[in-house]
Amino acid sequence: MPDGAPDGARDLLRFLACGAVDSGKSTLIGRLLFETGNVREDELAALVRDSKRYGTTGEEPDYALLLDGLEAEREQGITVDVAWRYFSTSCRRFIVADAPGHLQYTRNMASGAASASLAVLLVDARQGLQDQTRRHALICALFGIPDLVLAVNKMDAVGYDEAAFTAIADEFRAFAAPLGLRRIVALPLVARKGENVTRPAVALSWHDGPTLLGALEDAASAEALTDLPLRIQVQGIMRPDSEFRGMAGTVASGRVAPGDPVAVAGSGLTSRVARIVAPRGDLAEATAGQAVMLCLDDPIDVGRGDLLVAPDQRPAVAAQFAARLVALDEAPLLPGRRYALRIGHFWTAASITSIRHRLDVVTGGQHPARRLAMNEIGLCHLATTEPVPFDPYAENRATGSFILVDQTSHRTAAAGLIAHPLRRDDNIRRETFLVDKPARATLAGQRPAVIWFTGLSGSGKSTIAKRVEQELHQAGRHTYSLDGDNLRHGLCRDLGFTAEDRVENIRRAGEVAKLMVDAGLIVLCSFISPFRGERQLVRDMLEPGEFLEVFVDAPLDVCASRDPKGLYAKAMAGLIPSFTGIDSPYEAPEAPDLHLRTGEQDAAASVAAVLVRLRQDGFID
Ligand code: ADX
Repeated sequence: MPDGAPDGARDLLRFLACGAVDSGKSTLIGRLLFETGNVREDELAALVRDSKRYGTTGEEPDYALLLDGLEAEREQGITVDVAWRYFSTSCRRFIVADAPGHLQYTRNMASGAASASLAVLLVDARQGLQDQTRRHALICALFGIPDLVLAVNKMDAVGYDEAAFTAIADEFRAFAAPLGLRRIVALPLVARKGENVTRPAVALSWHDGPTLLGALEDAASAEALTDLPLRIQVQGIMRPDSEFRGMAGTVASGRVAPGDPVAVAGSGLTSRVARIVAPRGDLAEATAGQAVMLCLDDPIDVGRGDLLVAPDQRPAVAAQFAARLVALDEAPLLPGRRYALRIGHFWTAASITSIRHRLDVVTGGQHPARRLAMNEIGLCHLATTEPVPFDPYAENRATGSFILVDQTSHRTAAAGLIAHPLRRDDNIRRETFLVDKPARATLAGQRPAVIWFTGLSGSGKSTIAKRVEQELHQAGRHTYSLDGDNLRHGLCRDLGFTAEDRVENIRRAGEVAKLMVDAGLIVLCSFISPFRGERQLVRDMLEPGEFLEVFVDAPLDVCASRDPKGLYAKAMAGLIPSFTGIDSPYEAPEAPDLHLRTGEQDAAASVAAVLVRLRQDGFID
């Protein structure tokens, strides 16, 4: 173990290999595997055979072919985004994440970057730094990869010219200076010929630095999670019988031994570790990365998703925080939309309250943004339903990163790196009043609720809502109508019809409707509300039974032929961009409380159907 580095800190190095498409990355990794003796005999025989047939290197084996099977699968979208390869030398084990170099692959890099301690950035000596190089360097820095190796490949193509190498290395150092990396090593090589990959090359004798393998063997491992404060992510509680109560979880960072004090981050409750149970007898210690079963001295309340921590080194617990988000899905990230947030084993609902800026991943510049499209990165403020225990990502990569999941498609929408908690939350309390919703509702003699009409423009939402309100009013009910067109004259005057503005429009409408329900009213809401996610958001804001979703369903051609406001004609003439049903989507409800087919029945019949339902549900007699 060199330098007396702590056990386990130096032996394994996870690194990320990245580079623009033709920089020679496959060849380099192939060469590295071969020269370190990590290619099996049969693989080698196949390689020699294939090289003669498909290779691009003449008589030499084409080492890129060692990885090409995978490339082909990737092109067909079969394999996972990042391929992990294992290899070892006499002094170290390595795991290399091979990130595809195509322009749009920020998201792929992200999954390799979060656990790497070093990145090899490959550039072609003839091309010098590319936008892609800068982009990769920036993402590496963002993900907290402390060390970078700039490998200037294809030095033979520039006549092994030292000045050419130095110019690229200097330009890179100047670019990377503000990124706050711990160490940058630049080295020249020729991957195809194996020059300066694992052995120094005569032609590069002017280079007084290490070979690539030398740099990798020498790199400090950042896997020092063991040295960080104790964090255990609780996955579940095991109670096989009345005697035993074990907590299954993962040691995310630090180390733990029987007798150690622990606290539950969320509740603040404390206890001590009684045992660390393992299949072959209790353990004397467990460290970062290990799955454990813990028994505590006291039966304190702990459950799935809790974070057990060192009581004297507690994490932040906050319901609002700033984080860098990397948009991973084709559906853009929209402020106001509700996502499921997962951090460790803890799930809660979260939304982006604002995008502070979008990062230009080539220049490092910051730009205003109202959404984040796939592969874009932005600094955002987030709010969660429940307080989240975390550490800033810069302090602890394990407890400072999270994902956002789209609640409609169940796809991963974003990877998040927490920057810091927002203090604004600390100083705001909820006031309770002596007169509450039940009191107001009783006085009004009614059950408050939201009746939410959704459907295309011209489907009949407002027409039906108006008449239903009139009937309710005549029956002595206290009502109010919220309507898209009307709100857009005031409260929502700043909003247009982009997806992000529609999300915000419905969020605000929902909040207002909720206040009105709290005031004891029956609220009739007519909004196109084209997205399922936001209709669900409003439903979730209210109590069960307070939200009635009415799908006002008329086919697009019927709405367009009615065209009460002349808007379809304009939209079809290209005069209104993003018109719902024309060039902006409408997501029909999957299970509405009431489905009115207004293309087939007249308004009176639809109104009658709503009233029948309201009677059934006890809103009117
Ligand atoms: S929503 O999509 O955000 O729910 P909202 O119900 O508030 O829309 O407003 C829709 C009304 O705005 C329509 O009835 C129509 O009169 C008008 N409108 C103007 N431009 C558009 C557009 N691009 N798409 C849909 N409706 C539009």
